[in-house]
Amino acid sequence: MELFDVYPLMDLEPVSASGVRVAATDGRTYLDLYGGHAVISVGHSHPHYVDRLTAQAKRIGFYSNAVRNPLQVELARLLGEVGGHAEYRLFLCNSGAEANENALKLASFHTGRKRVVAFQGAFHGRTSAAVAATDDPTIIAPINGGHEVVFLPLDDEAAAERAITADTCAVIIEGIQGVGGVHEPAPAFLRTLRALCDRTGAVLVLDEVQSGYARSGDFFAHQRSGIAPDLITVAKGMGNGFPIGGVLVHPKFQAAHGLLGTTFGGNHLACAAAIAVLEIIRDERLLANARTAGEHLRTGLATIPGIVDLRGRGLMLGIDLEGPSGPVRQALLREHRLLVGSAKDKRTIRLLPPLTLSAAEAAEAVAAFEAVLRSIPTPVTP
Ligand SMILES: Cc1ncc(COP(=O)(O)O)c(C=O)c1O
Repeated sequence: MELFDVYPLMDLEPVSASGVRVAATDGRTYLDLYGGHAVISVGHSHPHYVDRLTAQAKRIGFYSNAVRNPLQVELARLLGEVGGHAEYRLFLCNSGAEANENALKLASFHTGRKRVVAFQGAFHGRTSAAVAATDDPTIIAPINGGHEVVFLPLDDEAAAERAITADTCAVIIEGIQGVGGVHEPAPAFLRTLRALCDRTGAVLVLDEVQSGYARSGDFFAHQRSGIAPDLITVAKGMGNGFPIGGVLVHPKFQAAHGLLGTTFGGNHLACAAAIAVLEIIRDERLLANARTAGEHLRTGLATIPGIVDLRGRGLMLGIDLEGPSGPVRQALLREHRLLVGSAKDKRTIRLLPPLTLSAAEAAEAVAAFEAVLRSIPTPVTP
């Protein structure tokens, strides 16, 4: 059998990795400012993470959600301690899309509605329809029988006022848009959404799959707005590479026996990985490091010619170039061994490094950008 071809691949085959460095089959070592797409939060092969995961694999790796699993309880407690929102409850699943599916489903069960408000440039996942084809009406929410989604411009208060009404099931918004190119909703706009949801009974879902887990320098990007979302979705950095996702559920929701569920979600190995991640974020003060390392990057990048816009905070940065970012990303990779991410807009480069990035590593990345952007002729508009 051959692989079904779905990904355009970079010319890179990693074989091992440590911290912020990735070694590849070409014998070279790369500085990872991509973090495997915002997934590597506490660094590759962190010793505490490896120890926790290995010890757990030797004890028990998996048993179904039909039995008690104290690791899930410990994970929820620690997430409340390190991330805040301690009064919420945690539903565990396997990925970001699954977290958002479950959040929207819960919103629909809660409201009995199926109209969703989302935002231009949003990315919430790639799944659809499995439950609609499942022959069990008790686990099918109104939204699964056909939904309607309207997309609004980010930060457009008047459009939100018009669109969020008494038939809105959920408003779903990223803490900071990632795939869309690192665009953050204004704190005041999040507060408006909170007020509109309160007024209409719609459920406010904060997608922190990419922007959460300390990436922005706050544990959750929405926290600087002071709002309490109804549901918060997480994944990516939560497991540092081990697949795990979750929905943080506001106390106002009833227990939901049978409505939500998954075979693998919250298994022993995934919980051990996610507990280790939170311990490392707490013990190594990675929230503070994300802020300072992010500032090093921002300050260094700000003066480089060819960068026309620099957005984001902490270690979630979007860099707009004058032209297509492809040749620049290629030169960074080949000539300077620097891994960076792209975005929907072909002119945008995304930086999503491990939260352990040091000042020296940030300086190394800035020097690589400087060298490449000074050597590349002014590109044509894409
Ligand atoms: C904000 C956001 N939500 C959801 C997802 C989907 O996550 P997954 O690929 O784990 O399903 C992504 C993935 O990039 C994302 O960035």
